[in-house]
Parts: sequence; C-alpha cells; structure tokens
Amino acid sequence: MSNINWAALQLAAKHASEQAYAPYSKFPVGVAVLAQSGKIYTGCNVENASYGGTVCAERNAIGAAIVAGERKFDALMVYTPQAQLTPPCGICRQVIAEFFMPDAPVASCNHLQQQQTWSLVELLPAAFTPTYLANSIKVDGNT
Ligand code: THU
Repeated sequence: MSNINWAALQLAAKHASEQAYAPYSKFPVGVAVLAQSGKIYTGCNVENASYGGTVCAERNAIGAAIVAGERKFDALMVYTPQAQLTPPCGICRQVIAEFFMPDAPVASCNHLQQQQTWSLVELLPAAFTPTYLANSIKVDGNT
C-alpha cells in the first residue's frame, strides 16, 4: 500500500470535480479510486431536481470502476474546493466498505494542497459487510 501515488489521485479527483453537476448545492465533489489493478477511476457528484436522486462522487467513481470489471480497491481520494476537508458521507462509507479492506486509506484533499487521510475502519467502525450475509443462516420471511 506504500506505493500509492497520492499526487496522481489528487489530480484525478480534482479533474473529476470540474465535471460535477451540482447546480443546487454548488458543492462540487470529485473522487478518484485506485483499483488493485493499478488503474484509477473517477466520479463526480450528479445532482437532481428531485434532490433525493443525487448521487455522490464516491459512488459514481466506484460504479465506473465496477462496470470496468474492478472489484477490489487500495485507496480513495475525495477532492473538494473547500477549506474544510470533506470526508465521504455515511451512505458512501457503506458502499466503500463493500469493496475496500478495513485498513484501506480514504483521503480528502482540497485546493489548498491539504490532505487528510483516514482508514476506512476509522470512518465506519463495525461495518456491515458481505461476510455477514455469506455467514448467515437463511431464514424464510413471510412470502
Ligand atoms: N457529496 C458528495 O459527492 N460526496 C460526499 O462525500 C459528500 C457530499 C455531494 C452530494 C451533493 O451533491 C453535494 O455534495 C452536497 O451534499
């Protein structure tokens, strides 16, 4: 994990933020994810006039990687042009937990060249992960 090219992730996330569709919040976000293949995938937030239809940059970046065939990731970078470094929202933390190891770095950077890095487990302790379903007893519900 020590060979992560943080500068490349920062640049890719920044470029993605420039494509953000955020006419309502005026809060553009770009995300770059580093897949275990070594490739970087990006996403931006895509808002909707029906606000609940908005999809965050994190989930769009992960979706772009998934459709390219990726399933495992080493790092995620968020870029926002904000003085306060922005971590992923709760819904996105859950989606990140589906594909990243608990100790994977999740970072945030901004236009001031600042970066803060957390581990996924710091952001989402005791995550509900696919193992709970894999190890579960299957119970018939009311059908
Ligand atoms: N947003 C993201 O894209 N990622 C985050 O981690 C935080 C929030 C977006 C959603 C919405 O378009 C805007 O930022 C304000 O919430």
